[in-house]
Amino acid sequence: RLMDSRATGQSECTVAIVGFGTVGQAVARILKSDLHPTIRLTHICNRDIQRKRVDWIDPDVVWTDSFDSVLASSVDVVVELIGGVSPARSWIERALAAGKSVVTANKQLIAEAGPALLTQASEHQQKLLFEAAVGGGIPVLRGLREGVSGDKLYRIEGILNGTCNYILTRMEAESISFDEALAEAQQLGYAEVDPTADVDGYDAQAKLAILIGVGLKRRVHAPNIPVTSITAVRAIDFVYARKLGYVVRQVARAELIPESTAMHASVQPALVPEPSALGRVGGSQNIVVVDGKFGGETAFSGFGAGGDPTAVAVVSDVISISTKDSLLSEGWLPMSEMPSRVIAEFEAAHYVRFTVNDRPGVIADLAEIFSKHRINVDAVLQEPGWSKSELPFVMTLERCLSSTLKKALSEIEQLNFHVRPPLWLPVLAKGEEVP
Ligand code: NDP
Ligand code: HSE
Repeated sequence: RLMDSRATGQSECTVAIVGFGTVGQAVARILKSDLHPTIRLTHICNRDIQRKRVDWIDPDVVWTDSFDSVLASSVDVVVELIGGVSPARSWIERALAAGKSVVTANKQLIAEAGPALLTQASEHQQKLLFEAAVGGGIPVLRGLREGVSGDKLYRIEGILNGTCNYILTRMEAESISFDEALAEAQQLGYAEVDPTADVDGYDAQAKLAILIGVGLKRRVHAPNIPVTSITAVRAIDFVYARKLGYVVRQVARAELIPESTAMHASVQPALVPEPSALGRVGGSQNIVVVDGKFGGETAFSGFGAGGDPTAVAVVSDVISISTKDSLLSEGWLPMSEMPSRVIAEFEAAHYVRFTVNDRPGVIADLAEIFSKHRINVDAVLQEPGWSKSELPFVMTLERCLSSTLKKALSEIEQLNFHVRPPLWLPVLAKGEEVP
């Protein structure tokens, strides 16, 4: 399908952008520049397209709100940037059936239907690439598929949501509220249309499911990966974390269990050492750290959200299709179908923050329940100056299974001195935060 360009002698590749929002506009800006003379934007498709028109797009580009007209055109690559599962899934299926390759940034859809869509792409001799779906501009899927494909990976850990990382690092550095930090992230184009997908962990859950498929070669049903929201993290947690030498991050992790098809996986806020690879990731940046049997630890980092970085990944996928380079254009299915059961269980040290109406015996009551569950208390931290009627303090606990801690906490929550539910965070100690 790719036509020869007389100017360069290279194949010309025509592109339709479907979804002219934050990422779609950033893709158009790159394609409008003279960086990629063999890639030509021919269509922009969006609902109510008249609202979306801008004057900096070349006049010969077709603006349409009809996806059918994109399908009927001779465009080579459809770039899907509307997000969500419906109608994105059927549009991608129809594009592939119509003989067009597809590039998408849609992590929700790829987590849910990636293998089926890749199979369809292969059946129609087309390509389906989705680098921007995980880690924004970081070429982590390419790195896993090609760069470390010679290794046997067994662990993946990372910061996969730019909005959460932006909120947590802004709250910590500038002492601004959660709502203010979230509003900034939305303004900067990092957040999903429904930002609860970001802050409650579902965006990172989908990305982790894709990484598990591509990197660990296991298929997990994304909703089976347990998620914990970052909304319960409060300003006081940054103070106590810092005292301990840690910072708070939303961490996604997955680990194979030897000799088993089951695996550990979770997305939750955690304490990571301030000087660690994860601890140094600030703002909308992301990081993915993988551990392999032969190659050891490899890290991929960069900007995980925002129009421009994400657009770089999208355009790079288009280039990969147009130049037919790399394993990706050889019809190789990078996502595995081997099903895996997810066990929501890790062993770790823990940080537990209580907020209580203070009275004599609070610590003794807590210690008694922890002791009953054979959980050893490591330290108690209490900052002076707080009201006794809403007193926050922290207990750090030695390593135990998360299920053991949850059992102890469900008993502790029955005690009558809580002003807020306790917040527990795993403490990913040095050597654990980067496996
Ligand atoms: P936006 O909401 O900014 O843009 C989506 C665009 O698609 C809007 O213009 C919207 O139109 C249009 N659209 C939505 N539904 C339809 C539909 N049914 N028919 C026609 N047009 C539609 O989202 P983003 O650009 O931020 O994200 C796009 C995709 O990229 C998502 O899958 C997202 O998860 C992913 N992504 C985003 C990143 C980011 O940092 N923003 C990073 C990595 C991936 P309208 O104006 O009417 O709403
Ligand atoms: N909402 C996502 C994030 C966009 O904040 O990371 C990038 O996938």
